[in-house]
Amino acid sequence: MNRFEKKVALVTGAASGIGRAVAEQIATEGGAVIVADIQDDLGSAVVQSIVSAGGRAVYRHLDVSSEADWDRAVTEAVDTFGALGILVNNAGIAHPQLIEDTSKDLYDRVIAVTQTSVFLGQRSASSALKASGYGSVVNVSSMFGVVGGFGSAPAYAAAKGAVRTLSKNTAIAWAKEGVRVNSVHPGFIDTPTLGDEGRAQMIAVTPMGRLGTASEVAGLVAFLASDEASFITGGEFLVDGGYTAQ
Ligand code: NAI
Repeated sequence: MNRFEKKVALVTGAASGIGRAVAEQIATEGGAVIVADIQDDLGSAVVQSIVSAGGRAVYRHLDVSSEADWDRAVTEAVDTFGALGILVNNAGIAHPQLIEDTSKDLYDRVIAVTQTSVFLGQRSASSALKASGYGSVVNVSSMFGVVGGFGSAPAYAAAKGAVRTLSKNTAIAWAKEGVRVNSVHPGFIDTPTLGDEGRAQMIAVTPMGRLGTASEVAGLVAFLASDEASFITGGEFLVDGGYTAQ
């Protein structure tokens, strides 16, 4: 499949995990990719691996909580590749604390990186997305943006829930402007962020009895980003091995 030929995508948090898998899949299918992250060495290594496999990619340092970084990254994307039509807001940070142990500073930081980032990214990229002729935004939320989970990580839950409705809100705003916006809600996915703690419990509470893989999420993100999903906007898509069906 070459669903992304002549298309340009910016993927945040693309140095690792789900973001990396999304960047690689889009590049494999012909797209030019801006690999954006704050882990510069890892991000550059992702670009090297894409380029040595024959794909097109550049690395850009982008702290998704920074307004100035967003404006610069979008301008550079358009300057480098001539357009920007696909935006994957994937970067996000979790935290293990219960609400009683969550400081205001921690809460604000998680909201900034996981929620406000999506607002900033969509706003910075809006003109480019509308001008591209193939505008598609995929916002990576979580199944814990839909259900309450283990009752921990309140800032993460609040942020991911907000990403879900912000996606629908922007989908309506841009529905007649050629830009689709959807949210993806992964369950427990085997990425570096998961760590070793709680792994057995996550597997036990997942009906399919295993963790998901980054490429299983990337497959859904790529579908939504592509023209195959041309009548799909404002949708929320779970990829959770059945967790929320319980
Ligand atoms: P990961 O830790 O492998 O990758 C996250 C990437 O985001 C890292 O490369 C990190 O450097 C980057 N990042 C962190 N703060 C950033 C910032 N301020 N600006 C730019 N980049 C930043 O994690 P994973 O699992 O791939 O997570 C990706 C997304 O999927 C996150 O939004 C996460 O909340 C979400 N998710 C993950 C699940 C899982 O089980 N792994 C479950 C549900 C959602």
